Amino acid sequence: MSVIANVLYGREDIRRRIEELGRTITGDYEGRAPVLISVLKGGSVFLADLIREVRLPVSVDYMSISRYDGAAESMGRVRIVKDLDDDIGGCDVLIVEDIVDTGLTLSYLISVLESRRPASIEVVALLDKSVRRIAPLEIKYRGFDCPDVFVVGYGLDYGERYRNLPDILAVHDLQALVEDPDALLPYIVEAPSVPPDDRPEG
Ligand code: IMP
Ligand code: MG
Repeated sequence: MSVIANVLYGREDIRRRIEELGRTITGDYEGRAPVLISVLKGGSVFLADLIREVRLPVSVDYMSISRYDGAAESMGRVRIVKDLDDDIGGCDVLIVEDIVDTGLTLSYLISVLESRRPASIEVVALLDKSVRRIAPLEIKYRGFDCPDVFVVGYGLDYGERYRNLPDILAVHDLQALVEDPDALLPYIVEAPSVPPDDRPEG
């Protein structure tokens, strides 16, 4: 029987990388007070850890979006379910994303936010599935260049499950997960510290 999933980025890899990102962002935004915007729900876990590594007077705001079915979906158009609480006009905006895949959703969101005339707008994404990109997009800060595989954990879900998994898993057998959505529950319940040699090559 093949393994359903294994750890792609362990919690310690994630912690270290976020520390580095926080340091870089702190330096780049010195003297400013950026607004960090998270797209619910996946990005909220990353945001929570990232803001504590940014040594600046940041503020946070949240947006919730839902995708359209059909033709509009392929354009990346989304409906804003919950908009930002505050006006971002004149602000330095940093969009915090868990993962950028095709980039369609994010590029649409950027165009919406740009129309509100912020002073600047940049993206920090923990995972960048760059090989899947359709919409041209500049991601200024990226945690990891993610291989083309379905991932769960650390905010990323499969059918709303696994957001609370401390590590990021690569799912190799999606069919097994379709048949048993709780198949990866041991990774949460036992929260094992996975040895480095359990990770895929590369
Ligand atoms: P995009 O418009 O294709 O870039 O969609 C990005 C969104 O799709 C992310 O914010 C995630 O919610 C979701 N997504 C993309 N890839 C994965 C994955 O491997 N696991 C879980 N969610 C994913
Ligand atoms: Mg999702």
